Amino acid sequence: MRHLLSAGDLTPAEAVTILDTAAQMAATQEREIKKLPTLRGRTVVNLFFEDSTRTRISFETAAKRLSADVINFSAKGSSVSKGESLKDTALTLQAMGADAVVIRHQASGAPHTLATSGWTHGAVVNAGDGTHQHPTQALLDAYTLRRHLVGDGGRSDVTGRDLEGLKVAIVGDVLHSRVARSNVQLLHTLGAEVTLVGPPTLVPVGVGAWTARVSYHLDEVIADEKPDAVMMLRVQRERMSSAGGGFFPSPLEYTRGYGLDARRLAALPDHAIVLHPGPMNRGLEISADAADSPRAVIVEQVANGVAVRMAVLYLLLAGGAPATNERADA
Ligand code: CP
Repeated sequence: MRHLLSAGDLTPAEAVTILDTAAQMAATQEREIKKLPTLRGRTVVNLFFEDSTRTRISFETAAKRLSADVINFSAKGSSVSKGESLKDTALTLQAMGADAVVIRHQASGAPHTLATSGWTHGAVVNAGDGTHQHPTQALLDAYTLRRHLVGDGGRSDVTGRDLEGLKVAIVGDVLHSRVARSNVQLLHTLGAEVTLVGPPTLVPVGVGAWTARVSYHLDEVIADEKPDAVMMLRVQRERMSSAGGGFFPSPLEYTRGYGLDARRLAALPDHAIVLHPGPMNRGLEISADAADSPRAVIVEQVANGVAVRMAVLYLLLAGGAPATNERADA
């Protein structure tokens, strides 16, 4: 693995290697070994052209826990506001010696351009591009699902398909969601069954090619499929207005049809967990009852994001990919 651009690029073995390595990283943190010397002398650049809280901070934390030097670049307050291009920004950062560039950009495909352009010699990690991909979010979601519903060590009976047979409902604004796209690909790779649920206006045309079922009725999916996990998506109002569209159905209709509230939470199987990538629109796609319930693993997803991003940086920069079937508890 030279770069991490898309969840769809990962083979089952590569995905499981990242999850197993993340489990090892988490174990070091639980043993209060806060800092590993693994990436001492290496430089990780966080290149964020779009706002972020969780992803930017967790990549920074992950790099520092591996002893890397970190340069944080935010487009706001930089020479991007004077018109500097991605190419010149990347060349400037390369001159400072980037071993890895973690990039978030509003344009789908920007990380791919950076990885193939020669503007940087470092490994490129996609931290979210437009409505396209957010591979480390999908990896931390898979890690969280595996931890709660399968067990940290994964499954030894079906190598590479650690989430075989799990039923996951991804609910809401699928149209604008790079999280949904990445999760559909990775969950399919790992053997899970995915149902996408949302109003017809927020489910993209051609979604059938996403290796997922589609439903426009959340209550039916909960009653009939009895999902092991529901992943609520943020309603991305900023992308709706920038695309010239509106928010249809209305917020009230949306919440009635697709919001996760106490009633729907109670209708889920007892073991089912609730995920949300954040940031949440409380009261719109998820009620406070649901967001704060013991079945919500939303805060844990953030913590797991650090372990997963440590694993990704370690595997890309230290180059020491463990054997793909090596388990954290082996
Ligand atoms: N989940 C996620 O990408 O959150 P941020 O936008 O805060 O990074």
